[in-house]
Amino acid sequence: MVIAIGNDHAAPELKLACAAHLEENGHTVIDTGCAVGEKCDYPDAARKVCELIQQGKAQLGILICGTGIGMSMSANKFKGIRAACCSEVFSARLTREHNDANVLCFGARVVGEGTAFDLIDAFVNTPYSNGERHAKRVAKMMAIENE
Ligand code: RB5
Repeated sequence: MVIAIGNDHAAPELKLACAAHLEENGHTVIDTGCAVGEKCDYPDAARKVCELIQQGKAQLGILICGTGIGMSMSANKFKGIRAACCSEVFSARLTREHNDANVLCFGARVVGEGTAFDLIDAFVNTPYSNGERHAKRVAKMMAIENE
């Protein structure tokens, strides 16, 4: 899978660890985030990852800030993006299965490296369960973008 990853200044170290974890598991990573020592604002970081998904250049995205909240709020402003802020594995799995989430957000000040890897594995390895029940709700959710 091609996965775009981004971060603000709260999370460059965790971003690097997550990118390496994804590559070790056979994924191609596009790192759009800021480097150690740089300052960057989470809406700008979210934009880079979301645009890669909108353009079809990445299938999924991962966004890491201090809490994951600013990233998820920003990412959900972009058309076609369904971003979920998760700090435990059950939600990371279910947001793929039920919501067809395409961006996972979490906070470097909330989760450690081990939990971050578990969140990523659950998110990346769980397919959308494209049943009628979920498809109808996801379609309704996405229709809100056009109101
Ligand atoms: C940056 O200090 C911090 O506000 C940001 O990383 C994030 O937690 C916002 O939601």
